[in-house]
Amino acid sequence: MNHFNYKNGLLHCEDIPLPAIAEAVGTPFYVYSSATLSRHFKAVDEAFSDIKHITCFAVKSCSNIAILNLFSSLGGGADIVSGGELFRALRAGVEPQKIVYSGVGKTVEELRYALNSRILMFNVESVQELQALQETAAALGCTAPVALRINPNVDPKTHAYISTGLARNKFGIPVAEAAKIYVEARGMPNIEIVGVSCHIGSQLTSVAPFIESLHKVIDFIKELAALRINIRYLDMGGGLGIKYEEENPPAPGEYAAAVKKVLREVNGCTLIIEPGRVIVGNAGALVTKVLYTKEGIKKFIIVDAGMNDLARPSLYDAYHEILPVIESQETAEADIVGPICESGDFLARGRLAPVAVRHDLLAVMSAGAYGFTMSSNYNSRPRVAEVMVRQTEFNVIRKRETFADLIRGEAVPEFT
Ligand SMILES: Cc1ncc(COP(=O)(O)O)c(C=O)c1O
Repeated sequence: MNHFNYKNGLLHCEDIPLPAIAEAVGTPFYVYSSATLSRHFKAVDEAFSDIKHITCFAVKSCSNIAILNLFSSLGGGADIVSGGELFRALRAGVEPQKIVYSGVGKTVEELRYALNSRILMFNVESVQELQALQETAAALGCTAPVALRINPNVDPKTHAYISTGLARNKFGIPVAEAAKIYVEARGMPNIEIVGVSCHIGSQLTSVAPFIESLHKVIDFIKELAALRINIRYLDMGGGLGIKYEEENPPAPGEYAAAVKKVLREVNGCTLIIEPGRVIVGNAGALVTKVLYTKEGIKKFIIVDAGMNDLARPSLYDAYHEILPVIESQETAEADIVGPICESGDFLARGRLAPVAVRHDLLAVMSAGAYGFTMSSNYNSRPRVAEVMVRQTEFNVIRKRETFADLIRGEAVPEFT
Protein backbone atom coordinates (compact mmCIF):
# COMPACT_ATOMS: atom_id res chain seq x y z
CA MET A 1 0.00 0.00 0.00
CA ASN A 2 1.20 3.53 -0.74
CA HIS A 3 -0.09 7.07 -0.40
CA PHE A 4 -0.32 8.02 -4.09
CA ASN A 5 -4.00 8.32 -5.05
CA TYR A 6 -6.32 10.23 -7.30
CA LYS A 7 -8.51 12.76 -5.54
CA ASN A 8 -10.88 14.95 -7.55
CA GLY A 9 -9.27 13.69 -10.73
CA LEU A 10 -5.70 14.69 -9.74
CA LEU A 11 -2.92 12.39 -8.62
CA HIS A 12 -1.91 13.24 -5.06
CA CYS A 13 0.96 12.26 -2.82
CA GLU A 14 -0.79 12.12 0.57
CA ASP A 15 -2.79 15.39 0.59
CA ILE A 16 -0.71 17.26 -1.96
CA PRO A 17 -1.75 17.37 -5.62
CA LEU A 18 1.34 16.69 -7.74
CA PRO A 19 0.81 19.79 -9.97
CA ALA A 20 1.30 21.96 -6.86
CA ILE A 21 4.79 20.54 -6.42
CA ALA A 22 5.54 20.86 -10.14
CA GLU A 23 4.59 24.51 -9.97
CA ALA A 24 6.85 25.11 -6.97
CA VAL A 25 9.95 23.16 -8.00
CA GLY A 26 9.62 22.57 -11.76
CA THR A 27 9.98 19.17 -13.42
CA PRO A 28 11.23 16.51 -13.32
CA PHE A 29 11.29 15.75 -9.59
CA TYR A 30 11.26 12.78 -7.27
CA VAL A 31 8.54 12.83 -4.63
CA TYR A 32 8.41 10.60 -1.57
CA SER A 33 5.52 10.02 0.81
CA SER A 34 6.66 10.21 4.39
CA ALA A 35 3.62 8.16 5.50
CA THR A 36 4.50 5.35 3.06
CA LEU A 37 8.17 5.41 4.08
CA SER A 38 7.25 5.09 7.77
CA ARG A 39 4.59 2.49 7.13
CA HIS A 40 6.91 0.29 5.10
CA PHE A 41 9.82 0.66 7.53
CA LYS A 42 7.56 -0.37 10.39
CA ALA A 43 6.02 -3.25 8.42
CA VAL A 44 9.47 -4.78 8.02
CA ASP A 45 10.92 -3.85 11.40
CA GLU A 46 7.88 -4.85 13.44
CA ALA A 47 7.67 -8.21 11.69
CA PHE A 48 10.82 -9.08 13.67
CA SER A 49 9.88 -7.26 16.90
CA ASP A 50 9.72 -10.52 18.88
CA ILE A 51 13.39 -11.36 18.26
CA LYS A 52 16.66 -9.47 18.76
CA HIS A 53 17.28 -7.66 15.50
CA ILE A 54 18.51 -4.49 13.82
CA THR A 55 16.92 -3.17 10.64
CA CYS A 56 19.81 -1.63 8.72
CA PHE A 57 18.27 0.26 5.81
CA ALA A 58 20.25 -0.24 2.58
CA VAL A 59 21.45 3.30 1.92
CA LYS A 60 22.25 2.57 -1.73
CA SER A 61 18.55 2.24 -2.52
CA CYS A 62 17.68 5.82 -1.51
CA SER A 63 20.31 7.85 0.24
CA ASN A 64 18.86 11.30 0.89
CA ILE A 65 19.67 12.32 4.46
CA ALA A 66 16.03 13.25 5.10
CA ILE A 67 15.04 9.66 4.43
CA LEU A 68 17.90 8.17 6.44
CA ASN A 69 17.00 10.50 9.28
CA LEU A 70 13.37 9.35 9.19
CA PHE A 71 14.35 5.66 9.47
CA SER A 72 16.88 6.45 12.17
CA SER A 73 14.14 8.17 14.18
CA LEU A 74 12.15 4.93 13.89
CA GLY A 75 15.07 2.98 15.38
CA GLY A 76 16.74 1.92 12.14
CA GLY A 77 20.39 1.52 11.33
CA ALA A 78 22.15 1.57 7.97
CA ASP A 79 23.77 -0.85 5.56
CA ILE A 80 26.46 1.07 3.70
CA VAL A 81 28.76 0.21 0.80
CA SER A 82 31.08 3.24 0.63
CA GLY A 83 32.69 6.01 2.61
CA GLY A 84 30.21 8.41 1.02
CA GLU A 85 27.28 6.38 2.34
CA LEU A 86 28.89 6.32 5.79
CA PHE A 87 29.18 10.11 5.66
CA ARG A 88 25.51 10.41 4.73
CA ALA A 89 24.35 7.98 7.41
CA LEU A 90 26.33 9.76 10.14
CA ARG A 91 25.13 13.19 8.96
CA ALA A 92 21.57 11.89 9.03
CA GLY A 93 21.99 10.89 12.67
CA VAL A 94 22.24 7.11 12.30
CA GLU A 95 23.94 5.57 15.35
CA PRO A 96 27.37 4.16 14.36
CA GLN A 97 26.61 1.06 16.40
CA LYS A 98 23.75 0.33 13.99
CA ILE A 99 25.86 0.60 10.82
CA VAL A 100 27.13 -2.41 8.86
CA TYR A 101 29.53 -2.02 5.97
CA SER A 102 29.32 -4.36 2.93
CA GLY A 103 31.00 -4.28 -0.49
CA VAL A 104 33.83 -6.02 -2.32
CA GLY A 105 36.06 -3.00 -2.85
CA LYS A 106 36.46 -0.99 0.35
CA THR A 107 39.56 1.22 0.14
CA VAL A 108 42.01 1.58 3.01
CA GLU A 109 40.83 5.20 3.46
CA GLU A 110 37.25 3.96 3.74
CA LEU A 111 38.25 1.23 6.23
CA ARG A 112 40.02 3.87 8.32
CA TYR A 113 37.00 6.20 8.24
CA ALA A 114 34.67 3.41 9.31
CA LEU A 115 37.02 2.23 12.07
CA ASN A 116 37.32 5.77 13.41
CA SER A 117 33.52 6.04 13.30
CA ARG A 118 33.17 2.89 15.46
CA ILE A 119 30.62 1.17 13.24
CA LEU A 120 28.98 -2.08 14.33
CA MET A 121 30.46 -4.49 11.80
CA PHE A 122 32.49 -4.86 8.61
CA ASN A 123 31.06 -7.46 6.21
CA VAL A 124 34.36 -8.62 4.74
CA GLU A 125 34.30 -10.10 1.25
CA SER A 126 37.85 -11.42 0.68
CA VAL A 127 41.03 -12.56 2.43
CA GLN A 128 42.92 -9.54 1.16
CA GLU A 129 40.27 -7.19 2.53
CA LEU A 130 40.56 -8.96 5.89
CA GLN A 131 44.32 -8.43 5.86
CA ALA A 132 43.91 -4.76 4.91
CA LEU A 133 41.42 -4.34 7.75
CA GLN A 134 43.84 -5.98 10.22
CA GLU A 135 46.66 -3.66 9.11
CA THR A 136 44.47 -0.55 9.21
CA ALA A 137 43.07 -1.38 12.64
CA ALA A 138 46.59 -2.12 13.94
CA ALA A 139 47.84 1.24 12.68
CA LEU A 140 44.96 2.96 14.47
CA GLY A 141 45.43 0.89 17.62
CA CYS A 142 41.86 -0.42 17.57
CA THR A 143 39.95 -3.63 16.90
CA ALA A 144 37.77 -4.22 13.84
CA PRO A 145 34.46 -6.07 14.38
CA VAL A 146 34.08 -8.47 11.49
CA ALA A 147 31.60 -10.75 9.75
CA LEU A 148 32.66 -12.62 6.66
CA ARG A 149 30.18 -12.39 3.82
CA ILE A 150 29.38 -15.90 2.74
CA ASN A 151 28.47 -16.68 -0.84
CA PRO A 152 25.97 -19.56 -0.47
CA ASN A 153 25.66 -20.31 -4.20
CA VAL A 154 21.90 -19.94 -4.19
CA ASP A 155 19.94 -18.75 -7.22
CA PRO A 156 17.76 -15.78 -6.19
CA LYS A 157 15.85 -15.99 -9.51
CA THR A 158 16.12 -12.30 -10.23
CA HIS A 159 17.73 -10.14 -12.92
CA ALA A 160 21.34 -11.23 -13.53
CA TYR A 161 22.71 -7.77 -12.68
CA ILE A 162 21.21 -7.82 -9.17
CA SER A 163 21.89 -11.47 -8.41
CA THR A 164 24.75 -11.66 -5.90
CA GLY A 165 24.65 -15.06 -4.21
CA LEU A 166 25.76 -17.36 -7.01
CA ALA A 167 29.28 -18.79 -7.08
CA ARG A 168 29.96 -16.93 -10.35
CA ASN A 169 29.11 -13.56 -8.77
CA LYS A 170 31.90 -11.38 -7.39
CA PHE A 171 30.40 -11.21 -3.91
CA GLY A 172 31.40 -12.94 -0.71
CA ILE A 173 33.51 -15.97 0.09
CA PRO A 174 32.49 -19.52 -0.87
CA VAL A 175 31.12 -21.41 2.15
CA ALA A 176 33.65 -24.19 1.60
CA GLU A 177 36.57 -21.79 2.10
CA ALA A 178 35.10 -19.60 4.82
CA ALA A 179 35.84 -21.71 7.93
CA LYS A 180 39.56 -21.63 7.19
CA ILE A 181 39.45 -17.85 6.86
CA TYR A 182 37.55 -17.51 10.15
CA VAL A 183 40.31 -19.50 11.82
CA GLU A 184 42.87 -17.16 10.22
CA ALA A 185 40.86 -14.14 11.39
CA ARG A 186 40.78 -15.51 14.94
CA GLY A 187 44.57 -15.35 14.95
CA MET A 188 44.67 -11.69 13.88
CA PRO A 189 45.27 -9.42 16.87
CA ASN A 190 43.18 -6.48 15.65
CA ILE A 191 40.23 -8.45 14.30
CA GLU A 192 37.26 -9.42 16.43
CA ILE A 193 34.93 -11.97 14.87
CA VAL A 194 31.35 -10.96 15.60
CA GLY A 195 29.17 -12.24 12.78
CA VAL A 196 28.37 -14.00 9.54
CA SER A 197 26.71 -12.16 6.68
CA CYS A 198 25.03 -13.03 3.41
CA HIS A 199 23.08 -11.17 0.73
CA ILE A 200 21.93 -13.11 -2.31
CA GLY A 201 20.34 -10.45 -4.50
CA SER A 202 17.62 -7.90 -4.94
CA GLN A 203 13.96 -7.93 -6.04
CA LEU A 204 13.37 -11.52 -4.87
CA THR A 205 9.75 -12.50 -5.29
CA SER A 206 9.70 -15.70 -3.29
CA VAL A 207 10.81 -16.73 0.19
CA ALA A 208 12.45 -20.00 -0.88
CA PRO A 209 15.91 -18.65 -1.92
CA PHE A 210 16.18 -16.67 1.34
CA ILE A 211 15.44 -19.80 3.35
CA GLU A 212 17.78 -21.95 1.30
CA SER A 213 20.64 -19.55 1.94
CA LEU A 214 19.69 -19.09 5.60
CA HIS A 215 19.94 -22.87 6.11
CA LYS A 216 23.42 -22.77 4.60
CA VAL A 217 24.44 -19.88 6.85
CA ILE A 218 23.08 -21.62 9.93
CA ASP A 219 24.87 -24.88 9.09
CA PHE A 220 28.00 -22.80 8.70
CA ILE A 221 27.50 -21.10 12.07
CA LYS A 222 27.24 -24.57 13.63
CA GLU A 223 30.48 -25.54 11.89
CA LEU A 224 32.11 -22.44 13.42
CA ALA A 225 30.71 -23.29 16.86
CA ALA A 226 32.44 -26.67 16.61
CA LEU A 227 35.67 -24.71 16.09
CA ARG A 228 34.77 -22.65 19.18
CA ILE A 229 34.14 -19.54 17.08
CA ASN A 230 30.95 -17.98 18.38
CA ILE A 231 28.79 -15.66 16.33
CA ARG A 232 26.75 -12.79 17.76
CA TYR A 233 25.26 -11.32 14.57
CA LEU A 234 23.64 -13.12 11.67
CA ASP A 235 23.23 -10.63 8.84
CA MET A 236 20.99 -11.98 6.12
CA GLY A 237 21.12 -8.91 3.88
CA GLY A 238 18.20 -7.40 2.01
CA GLY A 239 16.53 -8.32 -1.23
CA LEU A 240 12.80 -8.60 -0.60
CA GLY A 241 11.03 -7.60 -3.81
CA ILE A 242 8.11 -5.32 -4.56
CA LYS A 243 5.28 -5.26 -7.04
CA TYR A 244 6.20 -3.19 -10.10
CA GLU A 245 3.88 -4.94 -12.54
CA GLU A 246 2.66 -8.48 -12.07
CA GLU A 247 5.06 -9.71 -9.42
CA ASN A 248 3.56 -11.16 -6.30
CA PRO A 249 6.30 -10.90 -3.68
CA PRO A 250 5.80 -12.19 -0.14
CA ALA A 251 4.63 -9.62 2.41
CA PRO A 252 7.20 -8.71 5.08
CA GLY A 253 5.22 -10.72 7.65
CA GLU A 254 5.36 -13.87 5.54
CA TYR A 255 9.08 -13.43 4.94
CA ALA A 256 9.73 -12.76 8.64
CA ALA A 257 7.71 -15.78 9.76
CA ALA A 258 9.68 -18.09 7.46
CA VAL A 259 13.01 -16.61 8.59
CA LYS A 260 12.18 -16.80 12.29
CA LYS A 261 11.16 -20.44 12.02
CA VAL A 262 14.61 -21.37 10.74
CA LEU A 263 16.45 -18.98 13.04
CA ARG A 264 15.28 -20.89 16.13
CA GLU A 265 18.19 -23.23 15.43
CA VAL A 266 20.71 -20.57 16.39
CA ASN A 267 19.77 -19.13 19.74
CA GLY A 268 21.40 -15.99 20.98
CA CYS A 269 22.28 -14.44 17.62
CA THR A 270 21.01 -10.95 16.84
CA LEU A 271 19.51 -10.87 13.36
CA ILE A 272 20.52 -8.05 11.04
CA ILE A 273 18.43 -7.32 7.95
CA GLU A 274 19.36 -4.87 5.20
CA PRO A 275 16.12 -4.02 3.38
CA GLY A 276 16.11 -1.25 0.78
CA ARG A 277 13.69 -1.61 -2.10
CA VAL A 278 10.82 -3.08 -0.06
CA ILE A 279 10.79 0.02 2.14
CA VAL A 280 11.32 2.85 -0.34
CA GLY A 281 10.39 1.44 -3.76
CA ASN A 282 6.68 2.20 -3.74
CA ALA A 283 7.10 5.27 -1.54
CA GLY A 284 8.51 7.39 -4.37
CA ALA A 285 7.56 8.55 -7.86
CA LEU A 286 9.34 10.49 -10.58
CA VAL A 287 7.16 13.24 -12.00
CA THR A 288 7.95 14.36 -15.52
CA LYS A 289 6.42 16.69 -18.10
CA VAL A 290 5.62 15.91 -21.71
CA LEU A 291 7.79 18.06 -23.97
CA TYR A 292 6.62 16.85 -27.36
CA THR A 293 4.89 13.97 -29.07
CA LYS A 294 5.53 12.61 -32.53
CA GLU A 295 4.15 9.85 -34.62
CA GLY A 296 5.71 7.89 -37.45
CA ILE A 297 5.61 4.14 -37.63
CA LYS A 298 5.47 4.44 -33.84
CA LYS A 299 4.20 6.96 -31.37
CA PHE A 300 6.74 8.68 -29.12
CA ILE A 301 5.94 10.69 -26.03
CA ILE A 302 9.06 12.72 -25.28
CA VAL A 303 9.29 13.74 -21.64
CA ASP A 304 11.77 15.86 -19.68
CA ALA A 305 13.08 12.93 -17.56
CA GLY A 306 15.61 10.60 -19.13
CA MET A 307 17.70 7.55 -18.42
CA ASN A 308 20.08 9.77 -16.45
CA ASP A 309 17.23 10.52 -14.02
CA LEU A 310 15.85 6.96 -13.83
CA ALA A 311 18.23 4.31 -15.12
CA ARG A 312 16.21 1.18 -14.29
CA PRO A 313 14.22 0.84 -17.55
CA SER A 314 17.37 1.20 -19.69
CA LEU A 315 19.63 -0.79 -17.40
CA TYR A 316 17.40 -3.71 -16.43
CA ASP A 317 14.55 -3.33 -18.92
CA ALA A 318 12.56 -2.69 -15.76
CA TYR A 319 8.85 -1.95 -15.79
CA HIS A 320 7.49 1.14 -14.07
CA GLU A 321 3.83 1.99 -14.17
CA ILE A 322 3.27 5.43 -15.72
CA LEU A 323 0.18 7.36 -14.64
CA PRO A 324 -1.28 10.57 -15.99
CA VAL A 325 -1.34 13.20 -13.24
CA ILE A 326 -4.75 14.33 -14.47
CA GLU A 327 -6.85 11.18 -14.26
CA SER A 328 -7.82 9.74 -17.62
CA GLN A 329 -8.69 6.31 -18.92
CA GLU A 330 -7.56 7.01 -22.46
CA THR A 331 -4.57 5.01 -23.59
CA ALA A 332 -2.68 4.39 -26.81
CA GLU A 333 0.42 2.40 -27.61
CA ALA A 334 3.55 4.54 -27.36
CA ASP A 335 7.18 4.67 -26.28
CA ILE A 336 7.76 7.13 -23.45
CA VAL A 337 11.27 8.42 -24.00
CA GLY A 338 13.64 10.99 -22.57
CA PRO A 339 15.75 13.73 -24.17
CA ILE A 340 19.07 11.81 -24.01
CA CYS A 341 20.93 11.07 -27.23
CA GLU A 342 20.67 7.29 -26.97
CA SER A 343 18.02 4.96 -28.33
CA GLY A 344 18.32 3.16 -25.00
CA ASP A 345 16.84 6.22 -23.31
CA PHE A 346 13.29 5.22 -22.50
CA LEU A 347 10.99 5.01 -19.49
CA ALA A 348 8.57 2.64 -21.22
CA ARG A 349 8.50 0.91 -24.59
CA GLY A 350 5.56 -0.33 -26.63
CA ARG A 351 3.30 0.49 -23.72
CA LEU A 352 -0.41 1.22 -23.61
CA ALA A 353 0.38 4.65 -22.23
CA PRO A 354 -1.82 7.51 -21.16
CA VAL A 355 -2.76 9.66 -24.15
CA ALA A 356 -0.57 12.61 -23.24
CA VAL A 357 -0.02 15.91 -24.99
CA ARG A 358 2.48 18.75 -24.59
CA HIS A 359 2.78 20.06 -21.01
CA ASP A 360 0.92 17.11 -19.44
CA LEU A 361 2.45 15.68 -16.28
CA LEU A 362 3.14 11.96 -15.97
CA ALA A 363 4.11 10.09 -12.81
CA VAL A 364 6.57 7.22 -13.09
CA MET A 365 5.53 5.06 -10.17
CA SER A 366 7.57 2.84 -7.81
CA ALA A 367 10.67 4.91 -8.46
CA GLY A 368 11.71 5.39 -4.83
CA ALA A 369 14.37 2.67 -4.83
CA TYR A 370 17.45 2.85 -7.06
CA GLY A 371 15.88 5.90 -8.72
CA PHE A 372 17.56 9.10 -7.63
CA THR A 373 20.58 7.22 -6.23
CA MET A 374 21.42 5.82 -9.67
CA SER A 375 20.87 9.13 -11.44
CA SER A 376 23.73 10.91 -13.16
CA ASN A 377 24.65 14.07 -15.01
CA TYR A 378 24.90 12.31 -18.39
CA ASN A 379 24.30 14.74 -21.29
CA SER A 380 25.18 17.48 -18.75
CA ARG A 381 21.75 17.37 -17.23
CA PRO A 382 21.50 18.75 -13.70
CA ARG A 383 20.18 16.16 -11.27
CA VAL A 384 16.54 16.69 -10.35
CA ALA A 385 14.96 17.91 -7.12
CA GLU A 386 13.77 15.54 -4.41
CA VAL A 387 10.68 16.41 -2.39
CA MET A 388 9.19 14.84 0.71
CA VAL A 389 5.48 15.11 1.47
CA ARG A 390 3.91 14.83 4.89
CA GLN A 391 0.15 15.13 4.82
CA THR A 392 -0.60 18.69 3.63
CA GLU A 393 3.02 19.88 3.60
CA PHE A 394 5.92 19.32 1.28
CA ASN A 395 9.61 20.12 1.63
CA VAL A 396 12.42 20.11 -0.90
CA ILE A 397 14.93 17.61 0.52
CA ARG A 398 17.38 18.10 -2.33
CA LYS A 399 17.51 21.14 -4.54
CA ARG A 400 17.58 20.76 -8.28
CA GLU A 401 21.17 21.12 -9.47
CA THR A 402 22.13 24.19 -11.44
CA PHE A 403 24.40 24.52 -14.49
CA ALA A 404 27.05 25.89 -12.10
CA ASP A 405 26.82 22.61 -10.13
CA LEU A 406 27.64 20.75 -13.33
CA ILE A 407 31.14 22.25 -13.59
CA ARG A 408 31.88 22.54 -9.87
CA GLY A 409 35.46 21.39 -9.38
CA GLU A 410 36.36 21.55 -13.08
CA ALA A 411 39.15 23.80 -14.36
CA VAL A 412 40.75 24.73 -17.66
CA PRO A 413 44.45 23.88 -17.22
CA GLU A 414 47.01 26.63 -17.14
CA PHE A 415 50.02 24.73 -18.51
CA THR A 416 53.26 26.73 -18.71
C1 LIG B 1 24.84 -6.00 0.65
C2 LIG B 1 23.48 -5.52 0.30
N1 LIG B 1 22.56 -5.41 1.28
C3 LIG B 1 21.32 -4.96 1.01
C4 LIG B 1 20.93 -4.62 -0.27
C5 LIG B 1 19.54 -4.11 -0.48
O1 LIG B 1 18.80 -4.88 -1.32
P1 LIG B 1 17.26 -4.55 -1.54
O2 LIG B 1 17.14 -3.11 -1.92
O3 LIG B 1 16.84 -5.46 -2.60
O4 LIG B 1 16.57 -4.83 -0.23
C6 LIG B 1 21.84 -4.74 -1.32
C7 LIG B 1 21.43 -4.45 -2.70
O5 LIG B 1 21.57 -5.21 -3.61
C8 LIG B 1 23.15 -5.18 -1.03
O6 LIG B 1 24.07 -5.30 -1.99
